[in-house]
Amino acid sequence: MACQTTSDENIATDAEVVNRRRVLSLLGWGFIGVFLTVVVGSAIRFFFPRIIYEPPTKYKVGYPLEYTLGVSERFKKQFRVWIVREVDRIYVVQAKCTHLGCTPNWLSTEGKFKCPCHGSGFTPDGVNIEGPAPRPLERFKVALAEDGQIMVDESVRFRGERDEWQKPGAFLSV
Ligand code: FES
Repeated sequence: MACQTTSDENIATDAEVVNRRRVLSLLGWGFIGVFLTVVVGSAIRFFFPRIIYEPPTKYKVGYPLEYTLGVSERFKKQFRVWIVREVDRIYVVQAKCTHLGCTPNWLSTEGKFKCPCHGSGFTPDGVNIEGPAPRPLERFKVALAEDGQIMVDESVRFRGERDEWQKPGAFLSV
């Protein structure tokens, strides 16, 4: 009888050993799986790095004939600029207040830009006339693209307080 008990204990012990081996085996395969996932994931990230897509600094805003006299808000939402047409020229004004960078509104009935943040006002050509804004709105470089459209280049700016608005590239003659 005692012998039978010992045999049962041995059988139970063997079953435990088998279970332990299974658990260890599963753990081993689990580690291998995690390792392979990390390696493959790293390789994929290496070949497809994260890229931050920023808005383009050069873009076209249509043909000069598409603009009538005055301020156009056509590209304010997309590029944060106004296209302004005067009798003999077109230029591009950045819709960014020179006080703290808010986006002003064009008030067509009052004929001025008005910043909603602290009340700065600007004439249609961008000159600061009221509020805390210390200087005029900035303009971007404009040129005629090969296809005849207006090309805006945000990497080149023209500042009115530095007498840069008459420089080549600050406007397009029409
Ligand atoms: S940010 Fe425009 S007035 Fe202050």
